[in-house]
Amino acid sequence: MTHRASACGKIILLGEHAVVYGFPAIAVPVRELRAWADFAESRSPFRIEAPAIGLDAPLEDLPAEHPLAFCVRRSLEILHTTLPAGCLTVTSEIPVASGLGSGAAVSTAIVRVLASAAGQTLPPEEVSRIVFEVERIYHGTPSGVDNTVIAHERPIYFRRGLEPQILAVGAAIHFLIADSGVRSETRHAVGGVRERRQADPARYEGLFKFIGDLAEQGREYLESGDPEMLGRTMFECHGMLDAIGVTTPGLDRLVAAARGAGALGAKMSGAGLGGNVIALVDPQRFASVESALRDSAAVAVYRMALEPSHPPLGGTEPLPAA
Ligand code: PMV
Repeated sequence: MTHRASACGKIILLGEHAVVYGFPAIAVPVRELRAWADFAESRSPFRIEAPAIGLDAPLEDLPAEHPLAFCVRRSLEILHTTLPAGCLTVTSEIPVASGLGSGAAVSTAIVRVLASAAGQTLPPEEVSRIVFEVERIYHGTPSGVDNTVIAHERPIYFRRGLEPQILAVGAAIHFLIADSGVRSETRHAVGGVRERRQADPARYEGLFKFIGDLAEQGREYLESGDPEMLGRTMFECHGMLDAIGVTTPGLDRLVAAARGAGALGAKMSGAGLGGNVIALVDPQRFASVESALRDSAAVAVYRMALEPSHPPLGGTEPLPAA
């Protein structure tokens, strides 16, 4: 018997880095890019194959801190089930180390496929909790935003230590995601911000507060369906991320190119120092913005949309903290 599960990518619309220090962030699912986990039951001992990273090994040969092995072992503990015999194959169309949540998506797909193989369904908050533990291996001090948005596959308002909230989307909003082609480790960018903050806490507190305020405003524009104003907050946020030292000339060029070609907003997204730029674009301008991004050295451009959704009953739906 075979089982298959998937998980979406994610992108941070507003609030990265400041979210690590307790300020709010808005993150949204990228349903157009997914990670997959396939589990084929067989008589042979459990093995993991992840062709993209050249992994093909029996689980028992992998150390406890290997992220995929940890994810499998922790999932089985939570599911109160023993190791099934068979092969787990992990594939992903989400670019790695580029702010699109590839690690959290792979982990989420693994948790889901193991639950399916065990004949169980885990609620999103339980999936999110397991994935958060794996994220700690990847990033050291993750805020929890990636695992939350990916496990729920809904736009979220996230603030460390508080219950995440699922957000309604007031009108369809369209984006282009431009990959700079530069891979960057979240741990490295977050560590650099931490050092600069230690050297000048007052300045950084002010910048983080500004980023957090933009996330609060962005939330309102997302919910009321106001792409123009949401776009403005994105341009402003990019300026703040520049001020905390996580943009690069290449990312700045992509943002300027999107702006010049008529995007309503654009910013780098995620940890920065590489990775992706997200541009809010009226679909009528997709072609011109996309070609401007490619002319400015984007190695790939993805289209994504947030469809309008209704607020959950009783307003914004709270979720247990990840
Ligand atoms: O993994 P990325 O590149 O999406 O970055 C995560 C966002 C940060 O705010 C920089 C870190 C975090 O843990 O929230």
